[in-house]
Formats: sequence, structure tokens, C-alpha cells
Amino acid sequence: MEYKILDKEVQQYINANLQTDLHSLLLKKSPFAEVSMLEIVQQIKGKKVALKKFPFLLKEEIIFPPNLNLEQASSQATAEFKAQDLQGKSFLDLTTGFGIDAYFLSQNFDEVTLVEQNPELIEIVKHNWDILDRNAVFSNQNLEDFLSGNKERFDLIYLDPARRDEHKNKKFLLEDLSPNLLQIQRQLRKITDQIIIKLSPLIDISYLLSELKNITEIQIIAVRNEVKELLVFIKPKTLKEKIKIVCTNLETNESSFSFEYDTEKSAVSEYSEPLQYLYIPNNAVLKSGGFNSVSEKFTLKKLHRNSHFYTAEDLKSEFPGRILKVETIDSKNIKKGDQFNIISKNYPLSPDEIKKKYKIKDGGKDYLIFTQTEKNKIILRTF
Ligand SMILES: C[S@@+](CC[C@H](N)C(=O)[O-])C[C@H]1O[C@@H](n2cnc3c(N)ncnc32)[C@H](O)[C@@H]1O
Repeated sequence: MEYKILDKEVQQYINANLQTDLHSLLLKKSPFAEVSMLEIVQQIKGKKVALKKFPFLLKEEIIFPPNLNLEQASSQATAEFKAQDLQGKSFLDLTTGFGIDAYFLSQNFDEVTLVEQNPELIEIVKHNWDILDRNAVFSNQNLEDFLSGNKERFDLIYLDPARRDEHKNKKFLLEDLSPNLLQIQRQLRKITDQIIIKLSPLIDISYLLSELKNITEIQIIAVRNEVKELLVFIKPKTLKEKIKIVCTNLETNESSFSFEYDTEKSAVSEYSEPLQYLYIPNNAVLKSGGFNSVSEKFTLKKLHRNSHFYTAEDLKSEFPGRILKVETIDSKNIKKGDQFNIISKNYPLSPDEIKKKYKIKDGGKDYLIFTQTEKNKIILRTF
């Protein structure tokens, strides 16, 4: 397909307007007869998003799709992380989208098949893969049709379903996704021994385990403490095989933390008043629900059953989260006008109410942590 947007003059215009306000640009008339301003703005927007989200695409002649497809695409950072240890002969992505996951996940496979229902999008991916010197079979159809006509087996099938309604904030159900995984899971298991599914972090892990068969592992992936995705691994497994949960916080120096889903139920936490160090798990660990497992693994004690604050006398530098050296202080020692970052967890006052009550300012490098132990309400100060 010939893209007028790639004409030299249009590309020059795009590069000259990378810093221009896109709203005002949209109001202007396009200087080119065959390229609309909307198409130009789409490319500028794409380059801006790519700068942070997929820098490997900042190359000449790469085409960017509309905003929704940019938003739905995975980031290069998470895709590269997911690609680790994946290899084989044949790879199938049933929900290719902009193909970011496919590009990285399939790099150690000999044959790559990409299915996408959106015709313009798959054309763009085809064009870009050509520029990037990567081969694949591109299939523009819905995956249900692809599956009913397919006779091949694949070493790995990857799916990153789209939300049917992006604005629906109710309970997150698998039925809300396109494709509906519940309807196709049996069919998929017949043509592969390995399925990887990317899901939103909003989904409940126990619900997932009750609905999808043969889950062997769930990875919770955060980037700088923002949980971005749940990655579900489905493989044939024996009844005895345990489900592994792995929590990773990318772009930090925190180690990954993993535990067996079933052992969390039998793991126990002990309680203690604050000791020298306070441990706050990262959001991937909090999402995993491995609250007792983390306490057992690092021999930490909890401050209270309703908060996920842990404590120990010694430093456990492998802990997946923040480690703060703390001392308990009396509220009388908080001086009017002092500056602190305020954390309030499992405490009757919100940070704003605390700031007002003690007349303290927000910011600085030290923290005041308002919380409670099994016995008392306490204030901790970092130093
Ligand atoms: C979340 S996006 C995938 C993003 C992709 N992983 C990436 O990194 O760019 C989901 C894509 O699946 C496609 N899709 C959803 N349901 C489909 C179906 N039944 N058949 C084929 N494609 C489908 C959508 O058109 C959309 O482009």
C-alpha cells in the first residue's frame, strides 16, 4: 500500500511541527491536497507517544495508527520483559493491534502469524514490519474465523484482548473482553501447549483462576510501581503442579518476588510493634495478595492485620518494595511549620486532615507515617 503521508514534503512538515500544539494544528487547513490534517496530527501524536512508550519505532518511514491503537498497545519496556525466555518454531498473536507485543515476543520464533480484525491497522503493522525487516504472515480477519479455518499447531499463542467498553468501570469480567476467552479457551488448547494472555490489572486473581483452565503462572507487571498488566500462562499441567505468582516492578532496582498461590492460604503473619525498619510492598506485590507469603519469605512481622506495613530489626535489601528506617515519635514532637511527606494508612485521619491538625507543610525528604499496630495508633518518622 502506498502511503501519501510518507512523501518527503509531508514528512518534513511533520518533523517541523513536532512541538506545535496539536489542537491548533487540527484547526488549520492541510497544505497537501492528498493528506488531511487529521492524518498529519496522527503521525505527530504517534511520534510523541513513541518517544516514551516505544522508542524502537522512532525511525524514518514508520507509520503510526490512531490514538486508541497507540493507547491499547503495550510499551516496549513491558513487551521486552515478557519476551524473555520465549522461543520456539511457531508463534501466533490473535490480537495483534499495533504489534508491539508481537514484535518482541516473536523475535526468537521461526514462523510468525499475526491476526487482526482491523484492516487499516494490520496494513500499518505490515508496512512497519517491512521497514523493520521482520517477516510474518498477516491475517486480516476476526480470530474466530481464523481459528475455525486453521489446521496448524503453534508453539505459543499470545492474546491481548481489548475491552469492549473502555469506560465501563464495573466489576471486570472476562465476558467484557474481545475476544471472550471463556468461549475460545478449549479451542486454543487443542492447537497449542502454551498460551499467554495479557489482562488488565483490574481483574481479580481468584476469579481468573476459577474461570480459566490450566493456569500455571500469573505474572503481575508494574513499571515504576504502577501495575500495568497481568500476564496469564496456560499450559497442560498435572493436578499436583502449583500455580506460581510472580511480581515484578520494572525500571526499579527491586527484585522480583514469587510465591505459590496455594501456600499463601497456609502462610501466617506474626504481629509486632515497629522495629528499626518499615517495609512497604510495591504495588505488584499488593495486587498479588501474597501478604503472608512476603512476610514469611523475608521473616517480617506485620504492624496490623488491616494494613500491609511490615517491620524487622534488620535490613532485608531483597525486599520488593520500599524500606524505610523509622522511629516512633510522639505527636507532641511535631512542630508547627515542619515539612514532611505524609502517609496515612489504617488511621482515622486523611493526610489533608493530618496536615491541618498539626499545621505541617507537605514535601521535603522525610516522611511521617500515621498508622496503627495491633495495640496502638502510632506515628513513625523516617530518618
Ligand atoms: C489491546 S489491542 C492489542 C495490542 C497489542 N498487544 C500491542 O502491543 O500492540 C487488542 C486488539 O485485538 C483486536 N481484536 C479484538 N477482538 C478481536 C477478534 N475477535 N478478532 C481479531 N482481532 C480482535 C482489536 O482490534 C485490537 O486491535
